[in-house]
Amino acid sequence: MTMATEETQTFSAKLRATSWAAHGRAQHSPFMAALFGGTLAGGRFAELVAQEYFVYDVLEKAAAELRGHPVAGPFARPELDRRAVLEADLAELLGAAWASGIAPLAATQAYCDRLREVCFTWPGGFIAHHYVRYMGDLSGGQQIKKMIARHCGPAGTRFYDFAQIPDPDAFKEQYREQLDRLTLDTAEQQRVIDEVLLAYELTTRMLAAL
Ligand code: HEM
Repeated sequence: MTMATEETQTFSAKLRATSWAAHGRAQHSPFMAALFGGTLAGGRFAELVAQEYFVYDVLEKAAAELRGHPVAGPFARPELDRRAVLEADLAELLGAAWASGIAPLAATQAYCDRLREVCFTWPGGFIAHHYVRYMGDLSGGQQIKKMIARHCGPAGTRFYDFAQIPDPDAFKEQYREQLDRLTLDTAEQQRVIDEVLLAYELTTRMLAAL
């Protein structure tokens, strides 16, 4: 098998290839290593759910605004929405008063600030952040769920269940095709790639702060 050259490589393949090292830094962060090794201290999983709540809250506010947008709209599919399941997970993990018991960490605040800065006004920026979160949740997220269930118990893991996406692999394939249909010139492709790299970095910093 020969490697695709830059000219023949699809945008989705290019995005994956150029960000795979950054993916590795999130995947092998100390938090994930502790989770996969079964040594995650009690309470840290609930803290992850709380911090994810702040991130998805902003991202899904942008998604709701962009549903009719010609470029970003097709990505903003409501069956991906995580905010409601995160609320249910937090209620299960922290009790009915969960909302008064959580606050964004500085790293989460920085992530949310960037989401607010780009997602509402730049379709490529929205797509970059959307890709990193939801493609991740539909991919490694499924293994993360197994580890949480094994080491921390099944409470608070609705986040990883996409009830309205019965075939995640088919969905991801469609998602990649959608990325490949974007008509972005080389400079805009690079801007989106840079934003994906930043999204990974912000995620990794958030995980490091937990
Ligand atoms: C917060 C941490 C993580 C984020 C943000 C993330 C994000 C992503 C994204 C965006 C993709 C799609 C890449 C593409 O095909 O274009 C992906 C794929 C993948 N991730 Fe992660 N990931 C994370 C953690 C993990 C962990 C912990 C594992 C391993 C247990 C993992 C395993 C995988 C695998 C195997 C794929 C390829 C799936 C496929 O091609 O269908 N990821 N991840």
